[in-house]
Amino acid sequence: MSNLSAIKKPIAEEIKSYHKVFRTTIRSKVPLLDIIMKYILKTKGKEIRPIIVLYTAKMMGEISESTYYAATLIELLHTATLVHDDVVDDSNKRRGLFSVNALWKNKVAVLAGDYLLAKGLLLAVETNNHHLLEFVSKATRDMSEGELLQIEKARKLDISEDVYFEIIRKKTASLLASCFATGALSTIQDRKQIEKLWQVGEFTGIAFQIMDDLLDFKKASVTGKPSGVDIKEKKITLPLIYLMNNSNSAEKKKIIQTIKQRNQDTQKVEALIQQVRDAGGMEYSRKKMMEFKDKAITLLHEFPDNEARQALEQIIDFTISRKN
Ligand code: IPE
Ligand code: IPE
Ligand code: MG
Ligand code: MG
Repeated sequence: MSNLSAIKKPIAEEIKSYHKVFRTTIRSKVPLLDIIMKYILKTKGKEIRPIIVLYTAKMMGEISESTYYAATLIELLHTATLVHDDVVDDSNKRRGLFSVNALWKNKVAVLAGDYLLAKGLLLAVETNNHHLLEFVSKATRDMSEGELLQIEKARKLDISEDVYFEIIRKKTASLLASCFATGALSTIQDRKQIEKLWQVGEFTGIAFQIMDDLLDFKKASVTGKPSGVDIKEKKITLPLIYLMNNSNSAEKKKIIQTIKQRNQDTQKVEALIQQVRDAGGMEYSRKKMMEFKDKAITLLHEFPDNEARQALEQIIDFTISRKN
């Protein structure tokens, strides 16, 4: 199993430089925003995206100022979407602490998320790194589309495996793909190589979200986020889709009824999670996750074998073995 702090070690200095850029970028003279930004800095997450940006740049060449800007831009965008996502999902915990909406209410969280996004985009403009904007704007569009598609499906409660994969490709994989692409873009220009790296990131991102959806079925104390939230929010993820696809129409009706009517009832949710487990929904999702992970690694192996590539491989491994 890959350990994230061991992966970070060889680029500890570079991570420090990235932190500096990140910290200065989110400063605000508006007192309320400043307090929220300080809170966000205190609760920094795994930082998997900036690490990918740094290592991809290193794999293809040398880490430069432009790499730090790319890493900051992506992590800002990611943070913005998490702040918004907790409003959308009505979730009160994030990274083991209260979410922004839980502390300052939805109105403030929506605006703080917008601020983070704007700061990220401005960073690219002000530092003359316009080339980054193409990738991150596309990812931002995809994320909104993915989250909205998910809401639409949650309303109707009809979701096929294909639609599930479309949702997670948009809401999660697109940004992970941007990490690989913008990291490379800070050192090389070859469009073909960049597109290939984008693809590595997309496969990684799909595996990453399947893992996140599996973790939602686990105890909250492990992940730093509430668990069982997806079912309560009528979010139908792969393990549940598998159960539905392997149930007869009467059973299916009952499952849908549970999701629809008693979705705030923790005991009912627990029972449904158990049903998913018994039907093999977790194993099936795990298998699918491994398939995408393998695809990511195979494609990554087309790139030069160096320490940075090995680190990227470890990050991809971490994606599917992580506990939070
Ligand atoms: C959470 O991402 C959102 C998803 C795409 C599942 P991370 O698990 O990378 O969140 P942090 O930044 O480490 O908190
Ligand atoms: C991923 O979906 C969130 C984004 C892409 C913004 P989730 O709603 O499953 O993420 P968590 O579990 O809240 O981190
Ligand atoms: Mg959520
Ligand atoms: Mg989740």
